[in-house]
Amino acid sequence: MTHRAVDFPRAPAVARRLVSLVAALCLASLGVQAVFAAGPTLRSLADARGVKIGTALAANHLSADATYASIGAAQFNSVTPENEMKWGVVEPNRGQFNWSGADQIVSFAQSHGQRIRGHNLVWHSQLPGWLTGGSFSAAILTSIMKQHIATEVGRYRGRVAVWDVVNEPFNDNGTLRSDIWTQAMGMGYIATALRAARAADPNAKLFLNDFNIEGVNAKSTAMLNLVKTLKSQGAPIDGIGFESHFVLGQVPSSLQQNIARFTALGVSVEITELDVRMTLPTTSAKLTQQASDYRTVVNACLAVSGCRAITVWEFTDKYSWVPGTFSGQGAADLYDQNLQTKPAYTAVQQVL
Ligand code: XIL
Repeated sequence: MTHRAVDFPRAPAVARRLVSLVAALCLASLGVQAVFAAGPTLRSLADARGVKIGTALAANHLSADATYASIGAAQFNSVTPENEMKWGVVEPNRGQFNWSGADQIVSFAQSHGQRIRGHNLVWHSQLPGWLTGGSFSAAILTSIMKQHIATEVGRYRGRVAVWDVVNEPFNDNGTLRSDIWTQAMGMGYIATALRAARAADPNAKLFLNDFNIEGVNAKSTAMLNLVKTLKSQGAPIDGIGFESHFVLGQVPSSLQQNIARFTALGVSVEITELDVRMTLPTTSAKLTQQASDYRTVVNACLAVSGCRAITVWEFTDKYSWVPGTFSGQGAADLYDQNLQTKPAYTAVQQVL
């Protein structure tokens, strides 16, 4: 027996073509086509413009799903841990810290040259039971908050570029949300949190982040007024995150104008958690509308010089938070359940 049968250069043309075809099919089934979606990657386009295109990532999926990890690395130049830096995960018991998920995402992002958005330090949700049930005095709660911020921001000093220091402080009518923070400290908790974050990493950009502040409305006006107040107090505030969890066809027409009224105050704006949900099942008309909605949002941000970053809240419908939160809704992301690009991906690619 000779080895002629596996001598590729001398194999007949038809056999060579067969081998190529099988190889292509194998690569496709491994999802390689999704990683190398047609055309330039989103991050290469964003890099060329000096902007960020980011995604939320989940540590458990990075470990378990190689295609997810490949796309997450190949397509995005900014990463936000979806849950791994939240209080309940990071400090499940008072003074006991668990960094495993956060460290995993930080090292993933660093090894792929991606910026990291830290999310988040102070919020009403996903808090550990010891904190919500602790009935702490204002003085104790203030020191717990400062300690938590100093520890988390300090750990990632120089590695996390941007922090959502306070998340979702307002009600939709523009009043301050009633939670453990406001009940103990009033509105002052926000400036206290910002100052603690600044002290722990003077170079990190400090943001407040909220939903339903994308258009001009009572809630965004309350946020705008908060920025003015913080600035007048000399509290460190660098930017405002517009979460941007949109409903199909309902991107606010005042989005760009609203971004501009914030940047006029000297803070930057980022789109921090973009997704566009629809009532399931999908149709091609809905996916076309969704592509148009994504295009509108990216255009509105990039039209304003103070808005240089757009982050999607997971890039694939496979792992989106939407179906678990909004009954009957889904398909909100750039990639479908099979990690294949959707029209929304192509729209973002074209705009970038
Ligand atoms: C969501 C995550 O995506 C879910 O996995 C988790 O169960 C709940 O939180 N606003 C935010 C994000 O600021 O942290 C939320 O993330 C979505 C809404």
